[in-house]
Amino acid sequence: MKSHPKYNLTRTIGNTPLIQFDDNPSVKLKLEYHNPTFSMKDRVALHMINDIHDINEDIHIVEASSGNTGASVAFVCSYYGYDCTICVPESTSKLKTELIKKYGGNVVSCPNEGMDYQEYADHLGRKDGYLYLDQYHNKLNPEAHYLSTGPEIWEQTNHKIDCFVCPVGSGGTISGTGKYLKEMNPNIQIIGVDSKESNIHRFYEGCEPLENPNSGVEGLGKQEKLPTMWFNYIDQIVTVSDNQCFRQMKRWATDFGLFMGPSAAGTLFMSLQIQRNHNCECIVSLICDSGWKYI
Ligand SMILES: Cc1ncc(COP(=O)(O)O)c(C=O)c1O
Repeated sequence: MKSHPKYNLTRTIGNTPLIQFDDNPSVKLKLEYHNPTFSMKDRVALHMINDIHDINEDIHIVEASSGNTGASVAFVCSYYGYDCTICVPESTSKLKTELIKKYGGNVVSCPNEGMDYQEYADHLGRKDGYLYLDQYHNKLNPEAHYLSTGPEIWEQTNHKIDCFVCPVGSGGTISGTGKYLKEMNPNIQIIGVDSKESNIHRFYEGCEPLENPNSGVEGLGKQEKLPTMWFNYIDQIVTVSDNQCFRQMKRWATDFGLFMGPSAAGTLFMSLQIQRNHNCECIVSLICDSGWKYI
């Protein structure tokens, strides 16, 4: 256990800005890339690690992540003085893995064949002195958003939000935020954005899942239905293609100065369509991370 540094930078997590388009103020963007490691996963990492902090001091933390949660976990661990190992899929962008290392985390890059990144993290987490946080099965993942993202959006929109649009991977962000917003006003539409190459929307609609869905957009989509996906708070799941996400990513940066990751770009693209089709007066699009992570 290292000594605590002077500053508690984890206090800078959350309270991210909500902005709107000048020519279309009905569309609001919740800029989660303003979190310290540039994604909404800082909220989740802090909540999961705070939960174990009082119980266990000398522990090696393990997490499985497509990259964003890994950086967030490594960041929070650097504050608390925990060692950590992050298991990532081989396809994770170099910048994301570099960021984990810069915060002092170890990175294990796992191939899709054999033991994948989640299985390897589970295996590692069973060793003595190791603890696997497991965002994919940990109720603290959606709970972090129930306690922070949801209330922030509710207050920042002066309770006027009528639609929330959010990308779906583990489902933590949409589930926790959606639950809070539905409790405040059950008429708010909660809409998920999934990859066409994913099984989440297929499970949601009760369709046969694909055998090997393979989203090319990091963080977006999943092959299986996870306990962190609370479908009862979701009204609809729409889909985007990898191509749409990457094209829109370029467009938002070039035309609007909004440099976001591809899943966020696809989500914003769908939010504009939803706003037109549903005639929403206050629609919030969750911009989950920054584009520089994909350079
Ligand atoms: C870039 C990106 N987009 C979308 C998601 C999906 O978010 P959630 O896991 O909360 O569903 C993630 C999750 O890791 C992500 O990293």
